[in-house]
Amino acid sequence: MGEGLILFPEGIKSPKKSPMVLRGVVLSFVILSGIYTCSVCYKQFGRQLSVFPMVTIQILNRKSCESSAGVDPFVHFPKPRTFSRGECSCNPVRYFAILSTQRSGSGWFETLLNSHVNISSNGEIFSVKPRRSNATTILRTLDRVYNLELRTSAAKNECTAAVGLKWMLNQGLMQHHDEILDYFKSRGVSLIFLFRRNLLRRMISIQANSYDQNVKPLNGTHKSHVHSTHEAEILARYKPRINTTTLVENLRQVEDLVAKSLQYFNTTRHVVFYYEDVMNNPTKLADIQHFLKVPQRQLISRQVKIHKGVLHSQIQNWDDVNNTLQGTPYQIFLEQ
Ligand SMILES: *[C@@H]1O[C@H](CO)[C@@H](O)[C@H](O)[C@H]1NC(C)=O
Ligand SMILES: *[C@@H]1O[C@H](CO)[C@@H](O)[C@H](O)[C@H]1NC(C)=O
Ligand SMILES: *[C@@H]1O[C@H](CO)[C@@H](O)[C@H](O)[C@H]1NC(C)=O
Ligand SMILES: *[C@@H]1O[C@H](CO)[C@@H](O)[C@H](O)[C@H]1NC(C)=O
Ligand SMILES: *[C@@H]1O[C@H](CO)[C@@H](O)[C@H](O)[C@H]1NC(C)=O
Ligand SMILES: *[C@@H]1O[C@H](CO)[C@@H](O)[C@H](O)[C@H]1NC(C)=O
Repeated sequence: MGEGLILFPEGIKSPKKSPMVLRGVVLSFVILSGIYTCSVCYKQFGRQLSVFPMVTIQILNRKSCESSAGVDPFVHFPKPRTFSRGECSCNPVRYFAILSTQRSGSGWFETLLNSHVNISSNGEIFSVKPRRSNATTILRTLDRVYNLELRTSAAKNECTAAVGLKWMLNQGLMQHHDEILDYFKSRGVSLIFLFRRNLLRRMISIQANSYDQNVKPLNGTHKSHVHSTHEAEILARYKPRINTTTLVENLRQVEDLVAKSLQYFNTTRHVVFYYEDVMNNPTKLADIQHFLKVPQRQLISRQVKIHKGVLHSQIQNWDDVNNTLQGTPYQIFLEQ
């Protein structure tokens, strides 16, 4: 049986006896299965055409750009309808979203990312309510962001290699988490969770920011972020008074929200960063660029931290707060 690895079922004559008959059988089998495969493809592709027009456009566009590099679901070649990507039209683009909570350093973090020539992070685009009125408007807005069609001051357009946005957990993300998760997974969006470890310091920042919104000590303008130490000092003069009746419950709620967001979205490609770590450890900025697969650059921000130094000098009713948190899981926040 030296050459006899192909077995012929009984009833079919061996090739030596009638090679033409066998060739005919094999040929018609190949043709038939070809037709079948095509029809299945057409059905699936046709459905995609109507439901996900953008995905299909991207598949076609991908073909014209991609070399033999294989298909990576996180690599995209957007073809915006509003401008031409010019010389960079075949540079791969990755999609990301920064999921965070207010006053957790995400504004600062985003200015760092945007100092990179190939990163466009478009800010808190879902702070605009109509964009998050339902799942449909949310997904449509995401399509515009990722197809590079939402022009913000952060847009680098032509040579963007990573495009994304900053998204607060309370901006429709948790309400519509099922639809958004599907979108992230089917479109290959990478997630950067950015949280603050010390939720007590975050609370101070929230109260101070809302005080600034009302009182506007900086010559009558409200500034969530500042660019000079002078401005930072003026804003830091205000010491909030923390309601100790609701303190522990508030901290627990934020902690639960953060845990829940991780649980909802943990089946996507993601990474978790903490503001304090990014502040204190320069290698975190290399990690984030590695995660986004952009060339390594030095990232810079002009923003100045408002509240620094020891905690007890930043709270009006420190003793009260100190006593309230002693012996709770949040005691550690007092020491950091
Ligand atoms: C979603 O919101 C938009 C704008 O508010 C509205 O026009 C549309 O009818 C809504 N769609 C659904 C499915 O509720
Ligand atoms: C980054 O941007 C520069 C300048 O626009 C461009 O030459 C380069 O190709 C871009 N790199 C990537 C990886 O897209
Ligand atoms: C307020 O405005 C004056 C005059 O323009 C300027 O000298 C001063 O530095 C400003 N103060 C702050 C806190 O921005
Ligand atoms: C603390 O918050 C509770 C609930 O909102 C409120 O009833 C109480 O008056 C507040 N206490 C102070 C001192 O503001
Ligand atoms: C996602 O979170 C759920 C609930 O906390 C957990 O059971 C699951 O193992 C997590 N999955 C991954 C991939 O981390
Ligand atoms: C906080 O309270 C503890 C226990 O009462 C006390 O030992 C500590 O000195 C207080 N810390 C500050 C900074 O006041």
